[in-house]
Amino acid sequence: MSAPDTEVLFRPFSIRSLDLPNRIVMAPMTRGFAPQGIPGTPQAAYYQRRAEGGVGLILSEGTVIDRPASRNMAGIPLFHGEAALAGWKDVIDAVHAAGGKMGPQIWHTGSTMGPDGWDPGVPVESPSGLLAPGQPRGEAMSEEDIADAVSAFARAAADAARLGFDTVEIHGAHGYLIDQFFWSGTNARADRYGGATIRERSRFAGEIVAAVRAAVGPDFPIILRLSQWKQQDYLARLAETPDLMADWLQPLVDAGVDVLHCSQRRFWEPEFPEIDGERGLNFAGWAKKLTGAATISVGSVGLSGDFMAAFGGESSTSTALDGLVERMERDEFDLIAVGRALIADPNWVAEIGKGETAKLKGFDAATLGELV
Ligand SMILES: Cc1cc2nc3c(=O)[nH]c(=O)nc-3n(C[C@H](O)[C@H](O)[C@H](O)COP(=O)(O)O)c2cc1C
Repeated sequence: MSAPDTEVLFRPFSIRSLDLPNRIVMAPMTRGFAPQGIPGTPQAAYYQRRAEGGVGLILSEGTVIDRPASRNMAGIPLFHGEAALAGWKDVIDAVHAAGGKMGPQIWHTGSTMGPDGWDPGVPVESPSGLLAPGQPRGEAMSEEDIADAVSAFARAAADAARLGFDTVEIHGAHGYLIDQFFWSGTNARADRYGGATIRERSRFAGEIVAAVRAAVGPDFPIILRLSQWKQQDYLARLAETPDLMADWLQPLVDAGVDVLHCSQRRFWEPEFPEIDGERGLNFAGWAKKLTGAATISVGSVGLSGDFMAAFGGESSTSTALDGLVERMERDEFDLIAVGRALIADPNWVAEIGKGETAKLKGFDAATLGELV
């Protein structure tokens, strides 16, 4: 395997109060090791290891807001309540002690089902009581539920800032609650939270972003994670054209988002190949071009297979970084998130920095069974 010059990945990056030493972000990855939703020493040690390994910015596993059915698996950590927040305080202190920077990914799983079929014990909630088009599950949210969810996101963001986190990421991707509002397949509402256009269906997300901005003040950077694809339908798309993408993203940036985290399963796939060809801009590239906001790309960096295959137990071998380096050199996006490669090897960043790509292990799906 060739070892390209990765210098471009090691240029500093700043946004609002956040100064990063390099462009590499640890992607948010649910691990499910928080008994009763309380993170503690194992999580602090896990994230601290990645900070020691040189990750520029760590995004936590999805951690849920204060709504009755905001998670779909028992081991998902809460981001509310004294005990869970005390655990998160230990996490951020451990990351800071190693010189790292970190933000929690705040989340509501909507009407999705977790992998183990766990039941939260209260009805799940979503815009229209749908899991996918034509697939009812749980209850449609009332306007009061919506207002409470918006406040719960804002409280979680305020708690993140109060505990000392460096940023916060709102999870608006992958077919979970916020994305269920974006998607016409799961949002059939007749009120102001629904509508025929992506701009109308973005109202819920816009209110969350505005409330989060009001809660954290002007200096704290806000990241919003988005995806065209859904776990319910990999081929679903919210924006079929750049104009529609601008209709979707610009109001969210105007509401207060600093960084758009544009989730793809493979970062090299062009978003609108009919416009700029098979080697054209990816989702993060188009999002940056259309809005001027900073963007994070993601998806199979340094690995041969994509992450949904990993849930099916598939492992991946390590691959070269040439394509990534090329895109970052042309400033297509600002930051790159790395998921499984950082589960496999906490020192991945340090190793690619030294050009020691031959040491990289690839990803063995069995490593998801423990938190190390
Ligand atoms: C075990 C695992 C858990 C994940 N959990 C989350 C999550 O909580 N929130 C999220 O936005 N994405 C989640 N993802 C997706 C990753 O953030 C990332 O987008 C994906 O793994 C692609 O990056 P990679 O190919 O470098 O692994 C998860 C991925 C994996 C492998």
